[in-house]
Amino acid sequence: MSMDLNSTVHLHSGNRMPIMGLGTWQLTLETAETVLYAVNLGYRLIDTSSDYGTQPGIGEAIRKASIDREALYITTKVEETDDSYERTKSNLDELGLSYIDLMLIHRPPATGAGEELWEGLIKAKNEGLVKDIGVSNYSIPLINKLIEASGEVPTVNQIEWSPFGYSQEMLDYSKGKGIIIQAYSPLTRTLRLDDEKLNQVAEEHGKSPAQILIRWNLQLGTVPIPKANQKKHLEENLGVFDFAISQEDMGLLNSLNEYYSSLGWSLQYV
Ligand SMILES: NC(=O)c1ccc[n+]([C@@H]2O[C@H](COP(=O)([O-])OP(=O)(O)OC[C@H]3O[C@@H](n4cnc5c(N)ncnc54)[C@H](OP(=O)(O)O)[C@@H]3O)[C@@H](O)[C@H]2O)c1
Repeated sequence: MSMDLNSTVHLHSGNRMPIMGLGTWQLTLETAETVLYAVNLGYRLIDTSSDYGTQPGIGEAIRKASIDREALYITTKVEETDDSYERTKSNLDELGLSYIDLMLIHRPPATGAGEELWEGLIKAKNEGLVKDIGVSNYSIPLINKLIEASGEVPTVNQIEWSPFGYSQEMLDYSKGKGIIIQAYSPLTRTLRLDDEKLNQVAEEHGKSPAQILIRWNLQLGTVPIPKANQKKHLEENLGVFDFAISQEDMGLLNSLNEYYSSLGWSLQYV
C-alpha cells in the first residue's frame, strides 16, 4: 500500500480527505506561525474547534500560505450547547473562510444523540457552508440514533484512538457504514510513548514511537491528527511514509489495547 502526504481517503459523500492532519488543541506557540510552518512542510488537514482559540490563527496561516484554499482541509466543531447552524457561521467568520470542509458535533449532549444539532449541520451543508458533516466522541448507538432521525450518515467520527485504546467493533461498524474514524490524541498525549513493546517495534524499524503510532493508524485506515508545537515534532511526524509495519508487528500493537484513554475518560464505543 503506497501512501504519501498527498494521499486521501474517500468519504461516502464523494469528497476526499487527507490521510493525516495536524491537531491544534493547546497549540501554545503562535498559532498562525506554527500552522504556516506545518502547511509548508506538507500538512494539508488542520483540526480545530470553536473552543480551542486557534481558528483566527489558522485563518491567518491559510491566507499567508502560498497554496490554494482548495488544497487544504479544515475540520472544526460545534459545542453540544450551541445553535449549530449559527455556530457554523461564527466559525466561518473566525476562520475568515467561505466554507469549512468538515464540521463535527464535538461531543453528544448529556441527553440524547443531538438530533437538533445534527439538523443544524445538515442545513449548513445544504447551504454550502460546509462540505461534509460528522460527529466526535460518538458511540455506535448514538450514531445509529442520528441516522434513524435524519437518514444522514456522518462522514467522520473523531474519537480517541491509539493501540492502547481502540475498538475493533467500532472499526468494523464504521467501515460498514462508510464512516471514517479520525484518531485524536493518537500519540496518547505522550503518556504511553515509553511503552516497552511500542519501543521494541520502533527500534526494529529505526523509527520513533510517535512515528509508529501514526503509521499504525495509516495502515488501519484511520486518520491520525497528532498535535505538535515543536518544529522537530512537526517534521518527525511526517516521517511515516518510507516504511511499513509488518502484519506481525501490527498484531503486536493491536494486542496492546486496554481501552486506555489519555484524557482519563472511560471510552464508550458500543
Ligand atoms: N474531538 C475531541 O474531543 C478531541 C479531544 C482531544 C484532541 N482532539 C484533537 O486531536 C488533536 C491531537 O490530540 P492531542 O493534542 O490531545 O494529543 P496528541 O496529538 O496525542 O499528543 C500531543 C503531544 O504530543 C507531543 N508530540 C508531538 N509529536 C511528538 C513526537 N514526534 N515525539 C514526542 N512527542 C510528540 C506534543 O508535543 P509538542 O506540542 O511540544 O510538540 C504534545 O505534547 C488535538 O490537538 C485536537 O485537535 C480532539
